[in-house]
Amino acid sequence: MRVSFIILIFVSPYCWAMSFNDWLVNQKKVAEQQILANTSPQGAVKGTVLASTSKTDPDYYFHWVRDASLTMMAIQDFRIGNTDVLLNDFLTLTQLHQSKSGDLNLGEPKYLVSSEPFTGPWGRPQNDGPALRAIVFANWANYLLNSKNESYVRLNIYDGSFLSKSVLKRDLEYIAHHWSEPSYDLWEEVKGEHFYTLMVIRKALLLGADVALRLSDPAAAKFYFEQADLIKIKLQSFVVNNKLVATQNYVAGLSTKSSNKDVAVLLGVLHGDLDNGFLSSQVVSQTLKDLQSTFKAIYNVNSHGPSAAAFGRYPEDTYYGGNPWFLTTLAQAEIMYKSASTQYDIDQADLVMKRVQYHVPADLHLTEQLDKNSGFCLGAADLTWSYVSFLTAAHAREAALLSLVGLHTQKDTKIPRD
Ligand code: NOJ
Ligand code: NOJ
Repeated sequence: MRVSFIILIFVSPYCWAMSFNDWLVNQKKVAEQQILANTSPQGAVKGTVLASTSKTDPDYYFHWVRDASLTMMAIQDFRIGNTDVLLNDFLTLTQLHQSKSGDLNLGEPKYLVSSEPFTGPWGRPQNDGPALRAIVFANWANYLLNSKNESYVRLNIYDGSFLSKSVLKRDLEYIAHHWSEPSYDLWEEVKGEHFYTLMVIRKALLLGADVALRLSDPAAAKFYFEQADLIKIKLQSFVVNNKLVATQNYVAGLSTKSSNKDVAVLLGVLHGDLDNGFLSSQVVSQTLKDLQSTFKAIYNVNSHGPSAAAFGRYPEDTYYGGNPWFLTTLAQAEIMYKSASTQYDIDQADLVMKRVQYHVPADLHLTEQLDKNSGFCLGAADLTWSYVSFLTAAHAREAALLSLVGLHTQKDTKIPRD
């Protein structure tokens, strides 16, 4: 009995033989290592971030602007690898992408590893892409300006001229002029107006306006601030019955999402919140609760293992049969950590991480999805965004734990959290 139990642990395809804390430490290492492996891989133009190493079923061997920008944010925030070199390569590649697509088509969602725009049929435009990219460059510009590197910023990231070829200015002009037009959502399926897309565009405009001010371009800053204010008003209309809906004013594409429930709204809060008040609002906690009971009920895997539910993208999803995804489940954990104020809240979020651990294979490599019945990994191999999502969730966990310690030691002072 005892012998067979031990053998089971050693041959187990899963990593739950590891303690939770050991898993967190080891998963972080593998995540950083695989992010670096998928960035500027051999045979690709430098700066390329592969969405995944899979070339067939599905073919994800491309640079998606969304995935790549989210990856660069993690590289920036967590100082992964040689950060400045990687950002510089990403900048040079972005210059190529923008020039090849042209200023009217900066919503192009994906590029070949040769830096050519993908020309096959696809959901276009996807206007979250240039916004996420602008967030990366606005943050980098601020960092460089703080370290007295203004000439590099003016030359490459933001010059004040209107028909500028500098990367940040180009993306800002594009989103500032096109945000009110319908675009495809982050899942590349529905054309309309999306909470996610508008949230990240607003954040990019606000950060961009700050850079514009610092570089004496007040007219542009004023315009970006004005557009951001208009978007803020528009965003309120996504609150329906005290919950967030994903899409309004459907134009084209998949029309099966009758519930309008979608983890995209949580991602919108995570990637786009900037003094919006959403993060701590009742609306987000109601939306989260609703998604939790919805996903708990529809996937067989959620009836065993840790009590927290694995999340899919949205309940009507049929892509690969409609399964839970790592990045959406991790987004659930991250939003719970970010709104946690007690040890109990953190424990609840830990259950979501334990749900992830329960499905991760022994080598800690993450795919895109996990089978809703068997719990085995499925879909694109080594999905870069899965690793990024692990890191941002794990970081939110550390921040939540730290702030709790702070609250205990400094009883009278409230510690601000980001
Ligand atoms: C590929 C897209 O990337 C994915 O999000 C979508 O669900 C499928 N195509 C089906 O439209
Ligand atoms: C499909 C996802 O729906 C989309 O969000 C993502 O950008 C691509 N896969 C690439 O990972």
